Amino acid sequence: MSNFRRLRQSPTIRELVRETHLTKNDVIQPFFVIEGNKKIETIPSMPGIHRYSSDLLLREIEDYIKGGGKAGLFFGLPGKKDAKASQAYSEKGVIQNAIRKIKKEFPEFLVITDVCLCAYMDHGHCGVIENDKIVNEKTLPLLCKVALSHAEAGADIIAPSDMMDMRVGEIRRALDAQNFRNTAILSYAVKYSSAYYGPFRDAANSAPAFGDRKTYQMDPANAREALKEAQQDVLEGADMVMIKPAVAYLDIIHRVREAVNVPIAAYHVSGEYSMIKAAAEKKWINERDVALETLLGIKRAGADLIITYYAKDILKWI
Ligand code: PBG
Ligand code: ZN
Repeated sequence: MSNFRRLRQSPTIRELVRETHLTKNDVIQPFFVIEGNKKIETIPSMPGIHRYSSDLLLREIEDYIKGGGKAGLFFGLPGKKDAKASQAYSEKGVIQNAIRKIKKEFPEFLVITDVCLCAYMDHGHCGVIENDKIVNEKTLPLLCKVALSHAEAGADIIAPSDMMDMRVGEIRRALDAQNFRNTAILSYAVKYSSAYYGPFRDAANSAPAFGDRKTYQMDPANAREALKEAQQDVLEGADMVMIKPAVAYLDIIHRVREAVNVPIAAYHVSGEYSMIKAAAEKKWINERDVALETLLGIKRAGADLIITYYAKDILKWI
């Protein structure tokens, strides 16, 4: 005979015995930066999310900080793409310019930058292609150049999302060699080849022109491999590791939490966001309650941080 309901009698007692809390320190908002001035673009498959030119981005960040926002994950969308991803590591690139402006106006705001080549390559893959194959060794030097250019512009945390082998170690060495010892690495260590990235690829115009990403991103069927990926990246020098997507991979978040001792981030990705949005637009679910319950579940599974397109709303809701 149990009496579970005794501790559920009132809001006060429920709050006292609550095991998991979602706070303003847990969420990170992704931002998309485009070239030009006074530009704001909607993304049809991601209601409520926009692409901003850096001037308007600054005002958006100001609002976000006023609401209690502490950190953002930034994606640059270049005006032109090529086979060398040259805009990804240009000193005057869209993301490098934006980082400098953000850190100048908001020095305390934590700037995390996505390091990948897919949005900058004309073929849309995350690495260098030769004979229709993504070549790991030729990709690493480019990723190091991208990471360095972000660090030079003032990024606090570099987040490589390409899923090439050995890139965390190489990037760590490249940063240290240029004296960026305080620039941290948040590795997309456990990134699955997921259909949930669809809306993001609309937003970033980064869908591969041919094939898919299955030779570098993880097979959704594999869990033991996730532990190896996370442990390897920690050995190579990752300060934090990420699991992505989140909701279909709560078991992975839980297991990685037990397997490594660095902070863990989970990426509640574009498709996960847009599904809630779409159902809410149809009035089939309560958006706020479903979003909060979802993010609480991700925390309960073991995530210390959650990257989510709902971050700015969460700040208003909690
Ligand atoms: C780039 C990258 C992707 C996402 C983050 N960084 C897309 C991909 O791998 O195709 C997905 C984010 C999201 O869906 O919200 N490699
Ligand atoms: Zn990529």
